[in-house]
Amino acid sequence: AKVTFIEHDGAELVVDIPTGWTVMQGAVQNGVAGIEGECGGSCACATCHCYVDEAFLDGLPAPGETEDEMLGCTASERRANSRLSCQIRVTDALDGLVVRLPEAQS
Ligand code: FES
Repeated sequence: AKVTFIEHDGAELVVDIPTGWTVMQGAVQNGVAGIEGECGGSCACATCHCYVDEAFLDGLPAPGETEDEMLGCTASERRANSRLSCQIRVTDALDGLVVRLPEAQS
């Protein structure tokens, strides 16, 4: 699925991420600077924080308890559309997904 990352400075990067990968994996593999993924995707660092475009928010499973807790530890402010990108698994339905990256990630 094609995912568009919009950096804090407005730079856009479109990445094709295979189904089954997480958005964080796709970002790290493709050198998206705004996503770090320090813990490797185990929902324990919050450096993969992103803001999901509202149009796709309802199509995602709600954050689990651990993700919800970690979203309280993000470097940039938590918003209603904040998610941890390591907890978003790519599906065909997410083709065209747009995520915005926060100002600070650690
Ligand atoms: Fe660490 Fe997502 S990569 S919480």
